[in-house]
Amino acid sequence: MKNIPLVMILFGGSGDLAHRKLYPALFNLYEQGLIHDNFAVIATARRPWSHEYLREQVSDAIHETHEVVDENEISAFASHFYYQSHDVTNVEHYVTLKQLAHDLDEKYSAQGNRLFYMAMAPRFFGTIATHINDQHLTGSGFNRIVVEKPFGRDLASAEELNKQITASFKENEIFRIDHYLGKEMVQNILPLRFTNPLIKNIWNSDNIQNIQVTLAERLGVEARGGYYETSGALRDMVQNHIFQIITLLAMPEPKDISAASIHEAKKKLLDSLIIPDKDVIKKHFVRGQYAGSDTTFAYKNEPNVDENSTTETFAAGEVKFTEGPVAGVPIYFRTGKEFKEKKNRIDIVLKHINTPYGKAHSNNITIVIDPKSEIFITINGKRISEPGIRRENLDYTFSKEELAQVPDGYERLLHDVIVNDSTNFTEWSELKRYWQFIDAVESAWDEENKSGKPDIPQYIPYRMGPKEANDIFECATAHWIYE
Ligand code: BG6
Repeated sequence: MKNIPLVMILFGGSGDLAHRKLYPALFNLYEQGLIHDNFAVIATARRPWSHEYLREQVSDAIHETHEVVDENEISAFASHFYYQSHDVTNVEHYVTLKQLAHDLDEKYSAQGNRLFYMAMAPRFFGTIATHINDQHLTGSGFNRIVVEKPFGRDLASAEELNKQITASFKENEIFRIDHYLGKEMVQNILPLRFTNPLIKNIWNSDNIQNIQVTLAERLGVEARGGYYETSGALRDMVQNHIFQIITLLAMPEPKDISAASIHEAKKKLLDSLIIPDKDVIKKHFVRGQYAGSDTTFAYKNEPNVDENSTTETFAAGEVKFTEGPVAGVPIYFRTGKEFKEKKNRIDIVLKHINTPYGKAHSNNITIVIDPKSEIFITINGKRISEPGIRRENLDYTFSKEELAQVPDGYERLLHDVIVNDSTNFTEWSELKRYWQFIDAVESAWDEENKSGKPDIPQYIPYRMGPKEANDIFECATAHWIYE
């Protein structure tokens, strides 16, 4: 692999994301030779760490995620890491940062290439972007910035943040990251849809009755109550991950698989996204909060959560488009904390048809994203010794060896940033449409909150979320396939 020179400036270098995901991912890219002799990472955060302490942390992060490691490789890798204690509002700190980046650029011959990564609390993104611009932190080579989610908390704040970032970076230098787009089975949606006529030719409103996307988690909000109170399931999971999945499921066929063509096809679809009105939201959207049990807290009693909170830990709803192969087909989603199990899956529900054998029902295509990677399609045949139809699943699965080769989403996406491939990142035009949709739902729910009688069912933990979510379907016979 070609070695790409760069100085990376990581805001949030002492955080959980850096430790669990970014340092191990960078190590793997180092092992593959994508970054090697000519790179340096400056990790910044408030804490007064030394370079040495950071390097120990980086080394720990690699040990925690890798079974077999070569200690010499780890020390060689970690020696490229530098720490700067940084207060994001302090101008002087950006001046020091600029000098350090410049010195390291010379030391490692990084050719003026800069990669900025915003991995800290989102409320600082705007301030950092403004200082990058005011203190001229960009280099003389390529400049790219990776921005973690959430990108804003509504359309207005996202627009403001975008303005701050575009003061220093062009749209094609901004990588709005969504780790779901780095997942193996999410990246499999387009090949599945477009490379087999059997699937490609039925992927339309004549044959699909509805589509269902479930992103369910077993965990509660844990220590993240403070963040979660500013977000809720709709902003935390739907605005980004669910919408990206839905876009891949509903977009028209791209001309080719270049980043430009994929984004063009997504844009075409999203221009036709129907923004739901209050009546639709009332009928087809449900929110909920997990209740407590003998051994677990109710959401309202979690640390840093308001006891009268109206923040939803579960959201379900409907998305529709007027263009694209599944124009008019209801796409249902649901996501929630404290579900029965961790399960991310997509069910494509085909229409019931009349057959010479009677009515055929529930032929589905299912894509399981997590915890397994799997696709299964219903296939029907005759029963062996009695009349009737037998249903079996045709499975597409991975061997243990194949699964071991699947890189973590962050590794994949960091690789893409370094080689300048924006296919699996969110463009501003897409994000804008997602926020318009989310704002409509949030505003209907806010109105309900203000009326003093918000309809927020408390659901039993570790089951399937609120039962009200079973009534969001347009068609009386439709139901969740994953139950
Ligand atoms: C994050 C959300 O984006 O995705 C978390 O902020 C959520 O609340 C997480 O737990 C789920 O990701 P994954 O990859 O574990 O399904």
